Amino acid sequence: MISTRLIVDRDFTVSNLDRRIFGSFVEHMGRCVYTGIYEPGHPTADGQGFRRDVMALSRELGVSIVRYPGGNFLSGYNWEDGVGPKDQRPRRLDLAWFSTETNQFGTNEFLDWCRAVGTEPMISVNLGTRGPDEARHFLEYCNHPTGTRLSDLRREHGYEKPHDIKFWCLGNEMDGPWQIGQKTADEYGRIAKETAKLMRMVDPRVQLAACGSSTHDMPTFGSWEDTVLGHCFDEVDFISLHTYFENPHDSTAEFLGNIEQTELFIREVAAVADSVAARKHSTKRIMLSVDEWNVWYKARSIDHRRKPGWPEAPRLVEEVYNQEDALAVGGALIVMMNNADRVKTACLAQLANVIGPIMTEPGGAAWRQTIFHPFAQASRYARGRVLRPVIHSPAYQAKTFPEIAYLCASVVHDDETGQTAIFALNRHLSNTQEISIELRGLGDQQRLVDASELHHADMKASNTKAAPDNVAPQPNANVQIDGHRVTARLRPGSWNVIVTRNTKPA
Ligand code: AHR
Repeated sequence: MISTRLIVDRDFTVSNLDRRIFGSFVEHMGRCVYTGIYEPGHPTADGQGFRRDVMALSRELGVSIVRYPGGNFLSGYNWEDGVGPKDQRPRRLDLAWFSTETNQFGTNEFLDWCRAVGTEPMISVNLGTRGPDEARHFLEYCNHPTGTRLSDLRREHGYEKPHDIKFWCLGNEMDGPWQIGQKTADEYGRIAKETAKLMRMVDPRVQLAACGSSTHDMPTFGSWEDTVLGHCFDEVDFISLHTYFENPHDSTAEFLGNIEQTELFIREVAAVADSVAARKHSTKRIMLSVDEWNVWYKARSIDHRRKPGWPEAPRLVEEVYNQEDALAVGGALIVMMNNADRVKTACLAQLANVIGPIMTEPGGAAWRQTIFHPFAQASRYARGRVLRPVIHSPAYQAKTFPEIAYLCASVVHDDETGQTAIFALNRHLSNTQEISIELRGLGDQQRLVDASELHHADMKASNTKAAPDNVAPQPNANVQIDGHRVTARLRPGSWNVIVTRNTKPA
C-alpha cells in the first residue's frame, strides 16, 4: 500500500474549464465516416444514412466539438466535391490514404450529423493544395446569410439558414513531409496570416487555429511555432498541438510517463507563443488546441495505413485499445484539465474505427473501446472551475520522464451545483494507493454522488465485439467521506472518478 494526499482549495482556481476540450475528430480516413458514422442501409440508419447506434454512443461519449474533414485527407480535399446533389458528386483519389473518396458524405451531412448528436463542428480549410481564395469561398458558403452566389448555392442545397460555424483550423500538419503541400514555417505562416485575414473579412466572429508542429518530436518543434506565430500572431486565436502516445518498450510504467510529456509539450508551446507575444509587446495570449491526441502504436505500420488498389473505406489503423491505453487517455485528460487556462479545445483522434473510442462492424454492432470510458466520465462530470491540485505522492523514474508521481489527479468544481469531480490515476502497478483528499472551502457536509474505478488485472485486456464490456467502470465501494475529507483506496493501475456534492451551499 502507498499513501498519497490531494489538496484543493476553492480559492485556488486554474481556470474555468472550456468544455471544448472534450472534442473528437472525424476524418475521411478508413472507416471513420463510411461504415463508421455513416452507413445507409445499416439497420439503425436514419433517413440521412447516419448510424443511430453510433450517434447514441457519441452522445454518451459526450463529444463537445468535432473536427472535420481531416487530417492528412484535408490537404488534398475540395470542399465543393462534397456539397450538392449526391449523384453529381465526383469520385476522387485520396492521396493521403490511397483510397477512393466517393464524396457521398460532405460538409452539409457532417453539420446535420453534429446537430443530431448535439455537438459543435470544428471545420478545417485546405492549405495544402489550396489557399486563401478557396477558404474564403468555403466560409462564405457556410456562414454568409444570403444574396451572394455561394450563400445562395448553400440555400439551393437545402440550407436556408447559415451554418454559423465558429471554429476553423487553418490546414493540417503543414510541417510534415508526408503532408500534401508541405510548407516551410515561413511559407505556412504567411499563408495562414492571409487566409485568416480574408476569413475574418467574410465573418469577423470566427475563431481560428494555426497549425503547430505535427509532434513534439519534429526537428523543427519550437522554431516552427515561433516562426508561424511570428507571421500570424495578430490574426489567429489558437495554435494546434498533435500527440500520439507510443509504447516502444512495452513497459506500462514508461508508457504512462507520456502523460508528463504531454504536460511538458503544453507548457513549451504556451511558452513559445508567449515569447512571440513578448516580442510584439502584446498582452494577447494565444490559446492551445490539442486537436489530435490519442494512443496510437499497435496499428501504425504501413500495412495498417495503406491498402492496395485504391479501395473505398478500407480498414485502416483500427487500433484495439486495452486497459493501459485507457489509463493513458485518462491521464492525458487530467493534464489538459489541469492546464485549462491555456488548453481550450482538444480532439481525441478519431471518433470511430480509426484509432477510435467507438468500433463498428459494417451492417452490425457498435461497441465501446476501453478508452471510451475515461473520456465519457470526464466529459460527464468535469464542469465548472478546475482547482489547482496540490499532490503529495511518491514517484518513480522512467525513460519517458525523470519523475512520475504515482498519483495523477485533477479536481473540477461546479459553483452552480456545488458538485466536485475528482479524477485520479493510480500509476503504481502493484500497490493499492490510499488517497486522502482535502476539499478546502467547498463545504463541510460533502456526500458521495458517484465513485467508480476502471481496473483490470490484465493491462492488455481489451473490449471486442464478442466481449464489449470486458473493461468497463465498476462502482468503488472503498470511498469514505468525513466532512470535507475524502479517503479512498485506488487499485493498482486504475482510473478513478469520485464525485461529491455539499449538502448545503459552501
Ligand atoms: O489521425 C490520423 C492522422 O494522424 C491524421 O490524418 C494526421 O493529421 C495525423 O498525422
